[in-house]
Amino acid sequence: MKVDVLLGLQWGDEGKGKIVDVLTPRYDIITRFQGGPNAGHTLEFNNIKHILHNIPSGIFREDKLNIVANGVVLDPVIFRREIESLEAMDIDLTKNLWISKKAHLILPTHRILDAASEAAKGKSKIGSTLKGIGPTYMDKTGRNGLRVGDIDSNFKIKYEALKAKHIKLLKQYDFEYKLDEEEKFFDAIEVIRKFTRVDTEYEINRFLEQGKSILAEGAQGTLLDIDFGSYPFVTSSNTICAGACTGMGVAPSAIGEVYGIFKAYCTRVGSGPFPSELLDEEGEKLRDLGKEFGSTTGRPRRCGWLDLVALKYSLMLNGVTQLIMTKTDVLDTFDVIRVATAYSVDGELTDQMPFDLDVEVKPVFTEMAGWNTDLTGVRSKEQFPKELKEYITFLEKELKVPVKYVSVGPDREQIIEL
Ligand code: GDP
Ligand code: IMO
Ligand code: MG
Repeated sequence: MKVDVLLGLQWGDEGKGKIVDVLTPRYDIITRFQGGPNAGHTLEFNNIKHILHNIPSGIFREDKLNIVANGVVLDPVIFRREIESLEAMDIDLTKNLWISKKAHLILPTHRILDAASEAAKGKSKIGSTLKGIGPTYMDKTGRNGLRVGDIDSNFKIKYEALKAKHIKLLKQYDFEYKLDEEEKFFDAIEVIRKFTRVDTEYEINRFLEQGKSILAEGAQGTLLDIDFGSYPFVTSSNTICAGACTGMGVAPSAIGEVYGIFKAYCTRVGSGPFPSELLDEEGEKLRDLGKEFGSTTGRPRRCGWLDLVALKYSLMLNGVTQLIMTKTDVLDTFDVIRVATAYSVDGELTDQMPFDLDVEVKPVFTEMAGWNTDLTGVRSKEQFPKELKEYITFLEKELKVPVKYVSVGPDREQIIEL
């Protein structure tokens, strides 16, 4: 068997949590392979809304194994909080949640370093979620990090050594902080001890040999990728499909379907360039109707039209085989829908992402008629209004990848397979 990968094609929050939850019944195992609690993946069913940060979105479906693989950075304190809120819903987690020994740990001082680094950047701050993601991945690549497997031997000593390094670093910043989460951190480490901690790369490859099906759940989005995103306004991991290989320990030849998720428009939270951003009433309308406020930080998301230059770039980087369009219902009351099909960069037309998006990039828009129909109750493609069919046909022609699912609301049931 192969690993199917599901990932965001924009700047995150495309609706990955919802779609993983919808697809989980077809799989035996769901994994997370990168990112950490900067992710906020929302699931809605039976009038319950749940936001997951560290834990894969397969957790609500019985008898599915969920794996936090090696590429993830895990915050024990946030993990514990998530576990406790899931236990309150009678979900037996110690049975169906495994953690890689090689996943790196986010320490309280990583979070402080994140805040200090952002404060030092002033106006040019990244707009980080301040969950300690950047400093933890820096310690990983700098070969200083602590991994989940480290909790089994001399952990306190290793912790103190890394903390001492962090405190030295913090002296370089003019930043006031209080280190008051250590007790909580060590209590949360005790919670992690209750879980199966293994070399998940062996387990995952064994499962594949046994014919088990695996869905890998991406976090963030392609345009936040450390190599290909709008650097430096990115996250610190490889969010693209290749990240699933390094983040789980599977060969490139083991990748099967690649589901690419995009919103029918576009959003971004945090700083950085966003060529098709709307700074007017239409942008506000998208934010209001799409309830575009961050799942992790509550910050308002910036909104704009769909950007095909960026989307084509994402398709190329990920080898997407199936597209999933979400939040289609948010466009229900727009008379005119715009889609960026090219950029004008210093007066020159291009369909490529420029190296530096901070130069003057003006999107060139194509206009399409809106459908002015409430899609939230639609459950089959036969019910699609003509204009929506035209929108999908237009996108498929431009993107050369089929749209296989259309999501028309936050609930598990609000999805149409084409
Ligand atoms: P993720 O990070 O990619 O999992 O996405 P988030 O959960 O951060 O943000 C997506 C938001 O849109 C959540 O509040 C979802 O409940 C919601 N959502 C997902 N799909 C749809 C949809 O098709 N229509 C509407 N209106 N909301 C959706
Ligand atoms: P999900 O998985 C949207 C953004 C932050 C910031 C930048 C760097 O829910 O789609 P970081 O905390 O990683 O140092 O922040 O990346 N960001 C996200 N934006 N969705 C996410 O995750 C994000 N995770 C990080 O807003 O601009
Ligand atoms: Mg999110």
